[in-house]
Amino acid sequence: MAEANNFDGKVVWLTGASSGIGKELSIQLSQQNAKLILSSRNKKRLEELKGNLVNTDEHMVLPLDLADSASFSERYHEVIAKYGVVDILIQNGGISQRGTAAESSEEVVRQIMEVNFFGNVLLSKTVLPALRKSKGQIVVISSIAGKFGFFLRSSYSASKHALHGYYESLALEEESNGLSVTVVCPGKINTPISTNALSADGNKHGDMDHNQETGMDVSVCVEELLTAVVKKKREVLIGNKETKAVTLKRFLPALFWRVIRKQSPT
Ligand SMILES: NC(=O)c1ccc[n+]([C@@H]2O[C@H](COP(=O)([O-])OP(=O)(O)OC[C@H]3O[C@@H](n4cnc5c(N)ncnc54)[C@H](OP(=O)(O)O)[C@@H]3O)[C@@H](O)[C@H]2O)c1
Repeated sequence: MAEANNFDGKVVWLTGASSGIGKELSIQLSQQNAKLILSSRNKKRLEELKGNLVNTDEHMVLPLDLADSASFSERYHEVIAKYGVVDILIQNGGISQRGTAAESSEEVVRQIMEVNFFGNVLLSKTVLPALRKSKGQIVVISSIAGKFGFFLRSSYSASKHALHGYYESLALEEESNGLSVTVVCPGKINTPISTNALSADGNKHGDMDHNQETGMDVSVCVEELLTAVVKKKREVLIGNKETKAVTLKRFLPALFWRVIRKQSPT
């Protein structure tokens, strides 16, 4: 577990706080006395979460749709008006996919890129002045699908690959301003991500996939994630044996493709 007090008094803005990894991050960060800005679209869920956090009055519910970049500047000014600073921005909000490249509609392709890539990077651009001032940190939740393509996840995988290129560049550019970037690549984590994923026609997939259900416990994932944040790691893989696929692809690519094509997409 990350040492206590590493986040004491830190102002942490989290997207995707209403569910899964973001919800668990909020719980663990509140236990370490961080002041949290809880963002996602579902205000009711965020209010419920805030009510159950340690130091509930220190936190702020800030509904935000990552697909609505026109709202980011106003949201940012609300945060600065309340806290004056942002120490850490955790870019966790995202949406997955369960449809083939051939069948997924143009709308699905665009929606996934809008939320996972454009919304993500445009929010970081908006918050950058505060992060420069605090010599802060951006934590980007990518995926092992940001390291290799996989069945039913063409646009999702593309959106996550794109984040790596963007944030590796930003990290180099902002190093001299004291800013650091940590990119996190979870494998299979037990959250409702598959339920919320988009099918080829844009409707919710609606199923808790076997891969998700048998994935790493979300509290273990978040403990490892926060340790990587404290250590300011550039990149970290978190999960069970599936994360070994990343190393396999790099060093034994022919074997990697033989193994990966046998894996269940769900
Ligand atoms: N679970 C895994 O196995 C796994 C593996 C690799 C990577 N990840 C990544 O981890 C992150 C969190 O996923 P999770 O597993 O916790 O899934 P989740 O339980 O489905 O949570 C996704 C979060 O993203 C938010 N979100 C979705 N669309 C949004 C939008 N348009 N604007 C703002 N917020 C939006 C959701 O909140 P609202 O619905 O309230 O907006 C929710 O809080 C994602 O980036 C995902 O790609 C997860």
